Amino acid sequence: MADTLTVTDNRTGKSYEIPIANDTISAMDLRQIKVNDTDFGMMSYDPAYKNTASCISRITYIDGGKGILRYRGYPIEQLAETSSFLEVAFLLLRGELPSQSEMAGFQYEVKHHTLVHENIRELMEGFRYDAHPMGILMSTIAALSTFYPEAKNVDDAENRWLQIVRLIGKLPTLAAYAYRHRRGLPYVYPDNELSYSGNFLNMMFKMTERSYEPNPAVEKALDVLLILHADHEQNCSATAMRGVGSSRVDPYSALAAACAALYGPLHGGANEAVVRMLQEIGSKDAIPGFIKQVKEDRSVRLMGFGHRVYKNYDPRAKVIKKMAYEVFDAVGKNPLIDIAVELERIALEDEYFVNKKLYPNVDFYSGLIYQAMGLPMDMYPVLFALGRCAGWLAQWQEMLTDDEQRIARPRQVYLGSGSRDYVPLSDR
Ligand code: CMC
Repeated sequence: MADTLTVTDNRTGKSYEIPIANDTISAMDLRQIKVNDTDFGMMSYDPAYKNTASCISRITYIDGGKGILRYRGYPIEQLAETSSFLEVAFLLLRGELPSQSEMAGFQYEVKHHTLVHENIRELMEGFRYDAHPMGILMSTIAALSTFYPEAKNVDDAENRWLQIVRLIGKLPTLAAYAYRHRRGLPYVYPDNELSYSGNFLNMMFKMTERSYEPNPAVEKALDVLLILHADHEQNCSATAMRGVGSSRVDPYSALAAACAALYGPLHGGANEAVVRMLQEIGSKDAIPGFIKQVKEDRSVRLMGFGHRVYKNYDPRAKVIKKMAYEVFDAVGKNPLIDIAVELERIALEDEYFVNKKLYPNVDFYSGLIYQAMGLPMDMYPVLFALGRCAGWLAQWQEMLTDDEQRIARPRQVYLGSGSRDYVPLSDR
């Protein structure tokens, strides 16, 4: 059996044999299909890239039907159980788990890049008291490019690595500063004695104590949440990172663009919507009425359910659900969890959700944990960005080192006006 696809163009009666590799045909192979010599050639039309592979990647594998997620081959469940966020970041970026000395070196590098220039602090002051922390985060990430002009040498591997480490080191500082600004609290400098997640909690929540001691259960949960969000292959924000980065702009500018993509409610904002939904439902008794509403009114959705790729239980949701109880044991139960669990139970028995293969996704339980940790809702996408930063950088690096990649520049099908002559304003 030949690995080819035979296409017959019924306009001309000509047949073409197109190679198949990895169950995929190359869109450029369609270009040979022409009605005559002056014809541009056939293109494929795929708004929102629903069935177009834009790259070859070796970072993250998802099987949506089976509910499988692996980073560099390692199942997400194993990484969440036993690894740390920094180890996972190294894995995503370098392709292999670090040796002990590599791990120690990476931790040292990241910790020694956690401080931000004092001018960034001053820049923060310019934001209004109620500025959304995600807006502050993306603006200050973009501003970092002005501090490190050498970052534009994106084809220099050593220089690239320095910026990667800087970004992973500085993002928690920017995120925590955005939160403290919002609350009118003094900024807390990083504490390099603490773990990556412990230090983030320190910069967020330290008050007058001499040194901050993170709650171990909360520190562990935060680290796991960062791992679970670290990469998800070619999603909207990773595509933004690759697309913007393909112009060879510096990684700070590209990462600010990825952050902007994540800010949208269809991407990084759903966990907040879940908490709002659970608050509105208010009690277990109201669940059947809500489910009825979802089924009857297409504008009402069961937030935290459904996914473009997963047509099975999102493996991340399983880990988060279990962890939620561990966090509640440490910091007190979030009463909304009972509504969430019952809502999930009822939905998974309902044929509307069963037939459409709608299962809980990563956002169904994560907001409840963030809320129990004392985070305001507008910080939820910021937390998502902290984890996803590792994936964005891995995707960016892979794109830059892929010989097949060029500046991202899709084609269009033009259906606008034909040529016409300009009419002066006075004659219109
Ligand atoms: N509640 C009720 N019905 C739903 C839901 C839902 N949460 N999700 C999908 N459907 C229905 C939808 O009405 C459609 O029905 P029909 O076939 O009769 O038209 C069918 O299921 C397919 O839905 P779709 O909107 O065509 O699917 P999609 O792949 O374009 O959308 C989604 C995926 C995640 C945007 C969608 O499931 C959704 O809006 N979920 C709620 C929001 C949410 O939880 N988002 C977080 C996604 S995970 C985080 C991330 O990766 O960024």
